[in-house]
Amino acid sequence: MPIIDPAIEAYAHDRTKPESDILQALAKKTYAERPDAGMLCGRLEGRILQFLCTLTQAKRCIEIGMFTGYSGLSVAEALPDDGELICCDINPETAAFAQSFYDQSPHGKKITVKLAPALETIATLSGPFDLAFIDADKINYQAYYDATLPLMRSGGIIAVDNTLWHGAVLNPQDEDSKCIDDLNRFIENDARVDNVLLPVRDGLHLAMVK
Ligand SMILES: C[S@@+](CC[C@H](N)C(=O)[O-])C[C@H]1O[C@@H](n2cnc3c(N)ncnc32)[C@H](O)[C@@H]1O
Repeated sequence: MPIIDPAIEAYAHDRTKPESDILQALAKKTYAERPDAGMLCGRLEGRILQFLCTLTQAKRCIEIGMFTGYSGLSVAEALPDDGELICCDINPETAAFAQSFYDQSPHGKKITVKLAPALETIATLSGPFDLAFIDADKINYQAYYDATLPLMRSGGIIAVDNTLWHGAVLNPQDEDSKCIDDLNRFIENDARVDNVLLPVRDGLHLAMVK
């Protein structure tokens, strides 16, 4: 079920400043070439990620689940010149797609792509990070949260996508829905963070580390 009335969502999209030309081109090519293009986070969430970077004065970020690079390039655009974004993914085809756009952007130099299961990559990283965006396989959401949180600085934000899972969290039946609902409840009760679950697109759960 759509979380937001599609007309309202379209209005919010249209009243939000357009993303950069290169992000628009990336989105257009993704929708033209990929049947799974709906995974791309899009203008509203991209802009929210950029706001979060600006508000936290983020310099070091990590993305878990990069796909064709829309959210990653959105974050990179909001980082300072010496900012750094580590993007994790396992799909070489979409990683090459993303990299081709990073290479065209002046912000692409801030991005390092790690092509390996994200949990393996995270285990090699040292903090502190200012922003983490979790948007990969739902079954590992709790593991991504657990692995990422100790790497975050105080005041840093973990943003978890698809946390309303098309409404399935109201009555979770399948494995993915249960994992997402479990993580939402875990974050709600996690004394290490403050949180807000925003009903934006498919749900964006923000956890700010104390
Ligand atoms: C929803 S898409 C990410 C969308 C992207 N954040 C955006 O907004 O454009 C999920 C991505 O997670 C990746 N993924 C799935 N399992 C993974 C794993 N174990 N480690 C790293 N990435 C994984 C998939 O290959 C896919 O590209």
